[in-house]
Amino acid sequence: MKEIIQKDYEIFLGDEILEKLAEILINKEYSKIFVLMDSNTHKHCWPIVSPYLVNTEIIVIPAGEANKTIQYAEMVWEKFQAHFADRSAVLLNLGGGVITDLGGFCAATYKRGIDFINIPTTLLSMVDASIGGKLGVDFKSYKNVIGVFKHPKYIFINPGFLATLPEEEKRNGLAEVCKHALIEDKALFEKLAKTTTYDWGKSGAMIFQSLKIKVAIVKKDPFEKDIRKALNFGHTIGHAIETSSLLHDKTPLKHGEAIAIGMICEAFISKSIQGLSNSEFKSICDYFSTRFPKYKGKLIAAELIVLMKNDKKNREGLINFTLLKKIGKVKLDVNCHDELIEKSLEFYKSL
Ligand SMILES: NC(=O)c1ccc[n+]([C@@H]2O[C@H](COP(=O)([O-])OP(=O)(O)OC[C@H]3O[C@@H](n4cnc5c(N)ncnc54)[C@H](O)[C@@H]3O)[C@@H](O)[C@H]2O)c1
Ligand SMILES: [Zn+2]
Repeated sequence: MKEIIQKDYEIFLGDEILEKLAEILINKEYSKIFVLMDSNTHKHCWPIVSPYLVNTEIIVIPAGEANKTIQYAEMVWEKFQAHFADRSAVLLNLGGGVITDLGGFCAATYKRGIDFINIPTTLLSMVDASIGGKLGVDFKSYKNVIGVFKHPKYIFINPGFLATLPEEEKRNGLAEVCKHALIEDKALFEKLAKTTTYDWGKSGAMIFQSLKIKVAIVKKDPFEKDIRKALNFGHTIGHAIETSSLLHDKTPLKHGEAIAIGMICEAFISKSIQGLSNSEFKSICDYFSTRFPKYKGKLIAAELIVLMKNDKKNREGLINFTLLKKIGKVKLDVNCHDELIEKSLEFYKSL
């Protein structure tokens, strides 16, 4: 079992994490154990986890980003109240980023904060969403506008959960794995670029390598004042595309799909104003365009730019980018003209 111990939280990764979870729950003597999951993780993951737990109350919500809302947060708080949860209760979040964001938010705010533990079940949540303490819900179609920072007590990662995860969800996770490589680890990017099929049961080493990048950055800058902005590469344009897709599309883009487009566009901007070389730019475009289907929805520059200006990451109407000087090296806090953003979107459409 691999282990990372931080001041506020611990991460365990391996096949035997559920035994470790059971041991910790017994030692902590929590007054009540709640488990939040969605309909898919209830079906696929709960049967694996439940034999290790006793006396739990389960809370199941429908799957999907559309349910990461204050209404479902209320439902979770109501469950806590109905079962007399006190401050010594704990919430286990068994699911992807929707569950870890929503459940973490509910736990961090209930009675001014109860403990919560993440058991991520998607690749994206294993390397990204379950780590770093950003919690929250979407509000009126805007992503993650209501939220708080708080770390889980523990994160238990078992790549075995990926066995039932649909291929497209694995690809989503790979977008974040690749983002970590692009901002910090050129060798990892080269490895990813060479790999087209994975033996997911044996992907623990790659997951560990990727999540270590996030853990190290979050440790230096927990509240995103500075270097943590590195993790936003691809997300300025990507989040706007994700929101626009939520507003317009019957089947909205997933987070990973949207940021894959965002990374292509922001690599274009990086090449234009930060000196990212042509060959590195090309390998980034190749990576995403060969693995992700071309987005067929609308990419309206004027609408996306308004969304970017409203993004919580930006100040005084200026759009803030994290760009690449080269693979493995970022430049934070770059502003650029609207025309260049427009050009980058045109470039994506021309692929
Ligand atoms: N807090 C952060 O730092 C952070 C970082 C990145 C993303 N996020 C958030 O994470 C969310 C995206 O996360 P996600 O991609 O994990 O989405 P998700 O939680 O919606 O999971 C994707 C799909 O996979 C299903 N699923 C999950 N585990 C499964 C399994 N083992 N087998 C079968 N099906 C399974 C889910 O039910 C869902 O349908 C977004 O809301 C995004 O904003 C947060
Ligand atoms: Zn992301």
